[in-house]
Amino acid sequence: MDRLKNADHALPPPDGVPSTPRAPFKTLTEAYFLGYVPRPLALMCVGENPLAVAWHAPINKDPFLYAVAIDRTNHSHRLLEEGRDFTLNFLSADYLEDLLLSGQHHGDKLDKWKLFKSLKPVRALKVNALMVEQALLVYECRQEGLIGFADHSLLVGRVELLHYKRGKLKPDRVRYPLHMGKGYFSKNSRAYTLKR
Ligand SMILES: Cc1cc2nc3c(=O)[nH]c(=O)nc-3n(C[C@H](O)[C@H](O)[C@H](O)COP(=O)(O)O)c2cc1C
Repeated sequence: MDRLKNADHALPPPDGVPSTPRAPFKTLTEAYFLGYVPRPLALMCVGENPLAVAWHAPINKDPFLYAVAIDRTNHSHRLLEEGRDFTLNFLSADYLEDLLLSGQHHGDKLDKWKLFKSLKPVRALKVNALMVEQALLVYECRQEGLIGFADHSLLVGRVELLHYKRGKLKPDRVRYPLHMGKGYFSKNSRAYTLKR
Protein backbone atom coordinates (compact mmCIF):
# COMPACT_ATOMS: atom_id res chain seq x y z
CA MET A 1 0.00 0.00 0.00
CA ASP A 2 1.70 3.18 -1.22
CA ARG A 3 1.21 6.38 0.65
CA LEU A 4 0.31 9.16 -1.74
CA LYS A 5 3.42 11.27 -1.27
CA ASN A 6 2.81 13.89 -3.87
CA ALA A 7 -0.54 15.61 -4.38
CA ASP A 8 0.82 18.28 -6.74
CA HIS A 9 -1.40 17.03 -9.55
CA ALA A 10 -4.54 17.84 -7.51
CA LEU A 11 -6.68 20.81 -8.57
CA PRO A 12 -6.43 23.91 -6.36
CA PRO A 13 -9.40 24.24 -3.96
CA PRO A 14 -12.19 26.74 -4.82
CA ASP A 15 -11.87 30.25 -3.33
CA GLY A 16 -12.38 30.31 0.40
CA VAL A 17 -11.86 26.56 0.86
CA PRO A 18 -8.69 25.66 2.69
CA SER A 19 -6.46 23.10 0.97
CA THR A 20 -6.67 19.63 2.51
CA PRO A 21 -4.32 19.42 5.46
CA ARG A 22 -1.78 16.58 5.16
CA ALA A 23 -2.19 15.74 8.85
CA PRO A 24 -4.07 14.07 10.49
CA PHE A 25 -5.07 12.29 7.21
CA LYS A 26 -3.02 9.55 5.64
CA THR A 27 -3.70 8.70 2.02
CA LEU A 28 -3.54 5.39 0.19
CA THR A 29 -3.66 4.52 -3.49
CA GLU A 30 -4.83 1.23 -5.00
CA ALA A 31 -5.47 -0.02 -1.51
CA TYR A 32 -8.07 -2.25 0.08
CA PHE A 33 -8.84 -0.72 3.47
CA LEU A 34 -12.28 -0.82 5.12
CA GLY A 35 -11.38 1.36 8.10
CA TYR A 36 -13.43 -0.53 10.71
CA VAL A 37 -16.74 0.86 9.49
CA PRO A 38 -19.41 -1.50 10.95
CA ARG A 39 -21.36 -3.63 8.49
CA PRO A 40 -24.24 -5.91 9.51
CA LEU A 41 -23.35 -9.56 9.20
CA ALA A 42 -26.16 -11.58 7.64
CA LEU A 43 -26.61 -15.20 6.70
CA MET A 44 -27.37 -15.67 3.03
CA CYS A 45 -28.68 -18.93 1.60
CA VAL A 46 -28.02 -19.45 -2.10
CA GLY A 47 -30.43 -22.27 -2.85
CA GLU A 48 -29.65 -24.56 0.08
CA ASN A 49 -26.13 -23.30 0.76
CA PRO A 50 -25.57 -20.87 3.67
CA LEU A 51 -22.73 -18.30 3.80
CA ALA A 52 -21.94 -15.21 5.87
CA VAL A 53 -22.09 -11.86 4.07
CA ALA A 54 -21.27 -8.36 5.28
CA TRP A 55 -21.01 -6.50 1.95
CA HIS A 56 -24.68 -5.84 1.19
CA ALA A 57 -27.04 -2.88 0.81
CA PRO A 58 -30.55 -1.82 -0.34
CA ILE A 59 -30.35 -0.11 -3.76
CA ASN A 60 -33.97 0.57 -4.84
CA LYS A 61 -37.33 1.01 -3.07
CA ASP A 62 -39.96 0.16 -5.69
CA PRO A 63 -39.27 -2.53 -6.67
CA PHE A 64 -37.28 -3.35 -3.57
CA LEU A 65 -33.84 -4.36 -4.85
CA TYR A 66 -31.01 -5.52 -2.63
CA ALA A 67 -27.34 -5.89 -3.60
CA VAL A 68 -24.64 -8.22 -2.25
CA ALA A 69 -20.97 -8.50 -3.25
CA ILE A 70 -20.03 -12.16 -3.71
CA ASP A 71 -16.47 -13.45 -3.86
CA ARG A 72 -15.99 -15.23 -7.17
CA THR A 73 -14.11 -18.12 -5.52
CA ASN A 74 -17.06 -19.02 -3.26
CA HIS A 75 -19.14 -22.10 -4.00
CA SER A 76 -22.18 -19.80 -3.71
CA HIS A 77 -20.91 -17.81 -6.68
CA ARG A 78 -21.09 -20.91 -8.86
CA LEU A 79 -24.64 -21.55 -7.64
CA LEU A 80 -25.56 -17.95 -8.48
CA GLU A 81 -24.12 -18.36 -11.98
CA GLU A 82 -26.60 -21.24 -12.38
CA GLY A 83 -29.34 -18.69 -11.61
CA ARG A 84 -30.27 -19.86 -8.10
CA ASP A 85 -32.63 -17.85 -5.87
CA PHE A 86 -31.41 -16.70 -2.48
CA THR A 87 -32.53 -15.44 0.92
CA LEU A 88 -30.91 -12.93 3.25
CA ASN A 89 -31.41 -13.72 6.91
CA PHE A 90 -30.81 -11.14 9.63
CA LEU A 91 -30.12 -12.73 13.00
CA SER A 92 -29.42 -11.55 16.50
CA ALA A 93 -25.77 -11.34 17.58
CA ASP A 94 -26.51 -14.38 19.81
CA TYR A 95 -25.93 -16.51 16.70
CA LEU A 96 -22.51 -15.08 15.83
CA GLU A 97 -20.78 -18.44 16.31
CA ASP A 98 -22.94 -20.16 13.67
CA LEU A 99 -22.68 -17.14 11.39
CA LEU A 100 -18.90 -17.42 11.52
CA LEU A 101 -19.01 -21.16 10.80
CA SER A 102 -20.98 -20.38 7.63
CA GLY A 103 -18.20 -17.96 6.68
CA GLN A 104 -15.32 -20.37 7.30
CA HIS A 105 -16.39 -23.41 5.28
CA HIS A 106 -17.32 -24.07 1.67
CA GLY A 107 -20.62 -25.75 0.85
CA ASP A 108 -19.18 -28.00 -1.85
CA LYS A 109 -16.95 -29.63 0.80
CA LEU A 110 -19.47 -30.14 3.59
CA ASP A 111 -23.05 -29.54 4.66
CA LYS A 112 -22.82 -26.44 6.87
CA TRP A 113 -26.27 -27.02 8.36
CA LYS A 114 -24.78 -30.05 10.17
CA LEU A 115 -22.07 -27.86 11.75
CA PHE A 116 -24.42 -25.27 13.19
CA LYS A 117 -25.13 -25.33 16.93
CA SER A 118 -28.51 -23.56 16.70
CA LEU A 119 -29.53 -22.48 13.20
CA LYS A 120 -32.22 -24.57 11.48
CA PRO A 121 -33.30 -24.36 7.83
CA VAL A 122 -36.88 -23.91 6.63
CA ARG A 123 -38.14 -23.63 3.04
CA ALA A 124 -38.75 -20.12 1.73
CA LEU A 125 -42.31 -19.49 0.53
CA LYS A 126 -41.90 -17.76 -2.83
CA VAL A 127 -38.40 -18.56 -4.00
CA ASN A 128 -36.50 -21.81 -4.37
CA ALA A 129 -34.10 -21.45 -1.42
CA LEU A 130 -33.81 -22.14 2.28
CA MET A 131 -34.24 -19.54 5.01
CA VAL A 132 -33.35 -19.60 8.70
CA GLU A 133 -35.96 -20.35 11.37
CA GLN A 134 -34.23 -18.15 13.99
CA ALA A 135 -33.95 -15.05 11.74
CA LEU A 136 -35.64 -11.83 12.86
CA LEU A 137 -35.96 -10.56 9.31
CA VAL A 138 -35.71 -12.44 5.99
CA TYR A 139 -35.67 -11.24 2.39
CA GLU A 140 -36.65 -13.81 -0.23
CA CYS A 141 -34.92 -12.80 -3.47
CA ARG A 142 -34.85 -13.70 -7.13
CA GLN A 143 -31.85 -12.68 -9.16
CA GLU A 144 -32.14 -9.44 -11.07
CA GLY A 145 -28.49 -9.27 -12.16
CA LEU A 146 -24.98 -10.56 -11.51
CA ILE A 147 -22.21 -8.22 -12.63
CA GLY A 148 -18.66 -9.55 -12.49
CA PHE A 149 -15.68 -7.54 -11.27
CA ALA A 150 -12.09 -8.61 -10.70
CA ASP A 151 -12.58 -10.69 -7.55
CA HIS A 152 -16.22 -10.15 -6.56
CA SER A 153 -19.54 -9.99 -8.42
CA LEU A 154 -22.30 -7.56 -7.63
CA LEU A 155 -25.45 -9.62 -7.13
CA VAL A 156 -28.73 -7.73 -7.35
CA GLY A 157 -31.83 -9.43 -5.98
CA ARG A 158 -35.48 -8.46 -6.24
CA VAL A 159 -37.11 -8.95 -2.85
CA GLU A 160 -40.21 -11.03 -3.65
CA LEU A 161 -41.32 -11.50 -0.06
CA LEU A 162 -40.08 -10.44 3.33
CA HIS A 163 -40.69 -11.97 6.73
CA TYR A 164 -40.19 -10.31 10.07
CA LYS A 165 -40.91 -11.30 13.65
CA ARG A 166 -43.44 -8.95 15.18
CA GLY A 167 -42.19 -7.06 18.22
CA LYS A 168 -38.61 -8.26 17.74
CA LEU A 169 -37.30 -5.44 15.57
CA LYS A 170 -37.61 -2.59 18.06
CA PRO A 171 -34.58 -0.32 17.45
CA ASP A 172 -33.67 -0.12 21.13
CA ARG A 173 -33.87 -3.90 21.60
CA VAL A 174 -32.55 -5.54 18.46
CA ARG A 175 -28.88 -6.56 18.60
CA TYR A 176 -27.50 -7.28 15.16
CA PRO A 177 -23.91 -8.45 14.78
CA LEU A 178 -21.78 -5.79 13.10
CA HIS A 179 -18.57 -6.75 11.35
CA MET A 180 -15.89 -4.12 11.93
CA GLY A 181 -13.31 -5.69 9.62
CA LYS A 182 -10.64 -8.34 10.24
CA GLY A 183 -11.64 -10.33 13.34
CA TYR A 184 -13.61 -7.53 15.03
CA PHE A 185 -17.34 -7.46 15.75
CA SER A 186 -19.64 -5.13 17.60
CA LYS A 187 -23.38 -4.90 18.27
CA ASN A 188 -25.61 -1.88 18.20
CA SER A 189 -26.04 -1.64 21.94
CA ARG A 190 -28.03 1.57 22.16
CA ALA A 191 -30.46 3.23 19.73
CA TYR A 192 -31.55 6.85 19.88
CA THR A 193 -33.49 9.21 17.68
CA LEU A 194 -33.03 12.92 17.04
CA LYS A 195 -36.81 13.34 16.51
CA ARG A 196 -38.70 15.05 19.34
C1 LIG B 1 -17.49 -11.65 8.79
C2 LIG B 1 -17.54 -12.24 7.41
C3 LIG B 1 -18.08 -11.51 6.35
C4 LIG B 1 -18.11 -12.04 5.05
N1 LIG B 1 -18.67 -11.32 4.03
C5 LIG B 1 -18.72 -11.85 2.78
C6 LIG B 1 -19.37 -11.15 1.71
O1 LIG B 1 -19.93 -10.06 1.88
N2 LIG B 1 -19.35 -11.72 0.48
C7 LIG B 1 -18.77 -12.95 0.25
O2 LIG B 1 -18.79 -13.42 -0.89
N3 LIG B 1 -18.17 -13.63 1.24
C8 LIG B 1 -18.15 -13.12 2.50
N4 LIG B 1 -17.57 -13.81 3.51
C9 LIG B 1 -16.89 -15.08 3.21
C10 LIG B 1 -17.83 -16.25 2.96
O3 LIG B 1 -18.85 -16.33 3.95
C11 LIG B 1 -16.97 -17.52 2.98
O4 LIG B 1 -16.01 -17.46 1.95
C12 LIG B 1 -17.79 -18.81 2.86
O5 LIG B 1 -16.95 -19.89 3.22
C13 LIG B 1 -18.32 -19.03 1.46
O6 LIG B 1 -19.06 -20.21 1.48
P1 LIG B 1 -19.40 -21.03 0.15
O7 LIG B 1 -18.07 -21.40 -0.49
O8 LIG B 1 -20.16 -22.23 0.64
O9 LIG B 1 -20.20 -20.14 -0.74
C14 LIG B 1 -17.57 -13.32 4.82
C15 LIG B 1 -17.05 -14.07 5.88
C16 LIG B 1 -17.04 -13.54 7.17
C17 LIG B 1 -16.50 -14.38 8.31
